[in-house]
Amino acid sequence: MQHIEISKILTSKPAAIEITVKGWVRSFRSNRFIALNDGSTIKNLQCVVDFENFDEKLLDKITVGAAIAVSGELVASLGQGQDVEIQVEKIEILGEADPEEVKLTILSPKRHTLETLREQAHLRIRTNTFGAIMRVRSKLAFAVHEYFQKNNFHYFHSPIITGSDAEGAGEMFRVSVLDPKSPPLNDAGEVDYKQDFFEKESNLTVSGQLEAETYAMGLGKVYTFGPTFRAENSNTSRHLAEFWMIEPEMAFFDLDANMDLAEDFIKYVVKYALDHCADDLEFLENRLLQEEKNKPQAERSEMTLRDKLKFIIENNFKRVTYTEAIEILKRSKPNQKKKFKFLIDEWGADLQSEHERFLVEKHFKCPVILFDYPAKIKAFYMRLNDDGKTVRAMDILFPGIGEIVGGSQREERYDVLLDKMKAMDISEEELYWYLDLRKFGTCVHSGFGLGFERLVQFVTGMGNIRDVIPYPRTPGNAEF
Ligand code: 4AD
Ligand code: MG
Repeated sequence: MQHIEISKILTSKPAAIEITVKGWVRSFRSNRFIALNDGSTIKNLQCVVDFENFDEKLLDKITVGAAIAVSGELVASLGQGQDVEIQVEKIEILGEADPEEVKLTILSPKRHTLETLREQAHLRIRTNTFGAIMRVRSKLAFAVHEYFQKNNFHYFHSPIITGSDAEGAGEMFRVSVLDPKSPPLNDAGEVDYKQDFFEKESNLTVSGQLEAETYAMGLGKVYTFGPTFRAENSNTSRHLAEFWMIEPEMAFFDLDANMDLAEDFIKYVVKYALDHCADDLEFLENRLLQEEKNKPQAERSEMTLRDKLKFIIENNFKRVTYTEAIEILKRSKPNQKKKFKFLIDEWGADLQSEHERFLVEKHFKCPVILFDYPAKIKAFYMRLNDDGKTVRAMDILFPGIGEIVGGSQREERYDVLLDKMKAMDISEEELYWYLDLRKFGTCVHSGFGLGFERLVQFVTGMGNIRDVIPYPRTPGNAEF
């Protein structure tokens, strides 16, 4: 018999027909009540077994973690916590789970820390927490596509392997098939990448932006949504070596239009999660409340998870220039009392996450878009302002997260871009194609990048980015 998903069953009315469900046992109480979960929803289906009618050997195999199929009639539940349950007539053990071995894993029914769950990332998806996070992640990914498709953007697949460093920061993973023990050398004694697979140095992409710009110059509005890679040695709760980025790029958009789009986009996807992930968000909200109970009062958040999400949707993001932000930071208490690790004493300083979080969480108490940054601390492709020292860059800063979006209006003037590349030591030979865009029908254009995991962190309330991607890659860790 074809099985039905639990999410569908739980919204059905009792009916005098036999149905079949398949899932993993979460618990088996009193030899009578099986809590079955199949991943379709955070909720378990209660399956009621009249044990008198079943072989004891079969019942012994209904253990936590086992995969089973049960058939029976859907009836109104007499117990609390569910409207319907299955009165079991048939049980089939699909895959056993030895209780002795289960005991040694995170499948054992007790509280495990997130760190322990991370060590068994192949099993953690069977927990309520990770089921909820990953369903929300999936819905958010869909919402991203829906937003851009509805707004006439074209989905552009940027290459994963590239020969260029889009951010010019040199934080790339090399792609090579040369023998690491004895690579061929050139006359200068350096590794001869001409003999490598691509006949040049190549790497995993850090951003699809530059290629997206080429497509925006023909398709008008494009977006990428794919994995990006950074070999930065940042062991923080907000950095991954492999993360997913969404990068829209639009011809004829200036920085203001870019900021409008970013704000509208974020509000859309957050609302989508609120509208489509009610059960999972309720669970995650309670999880967060529990977690925060262990924290001192001052560190607990004033709003619940869903209130925070609603706040984002209902309020305008505050737009502030870098220069204004520096003034605020200079005068701020943590700066004057030397509480910041990096003190702000002059214009031009790069903002650290402690500063970003101060602006968002303490000063403005809402999402902030900082714009017009010093040219010196931003990438080469950003459009130079008339003051000659700031660029049309914007970062969106979120409470609890810090930077969630980085974007800019691009330098569309050939000469200005060329000068900038020369000054920043960016190879014009390698990026000839990028310069070409400024020769053939150049125009004002803009775009931004949103780190998908940081968005998932914000929506799920998870403190560590390693817990919102199935298999996190971080310095020293590429397990699974
Ligand atoms: O600010 P970033 O480096 O900007 C770019 O890559 C531009 N090319 C984007 C564009 O204009 N098309 O990165 C964009 C966003 C950051 O704001 C952050 O959310 C995320 O990507 N991000 C990371 N997320 C997780 N782990 C990392 N190591 C990240 N680095 C950046
Ligand atoms: Mg950035």
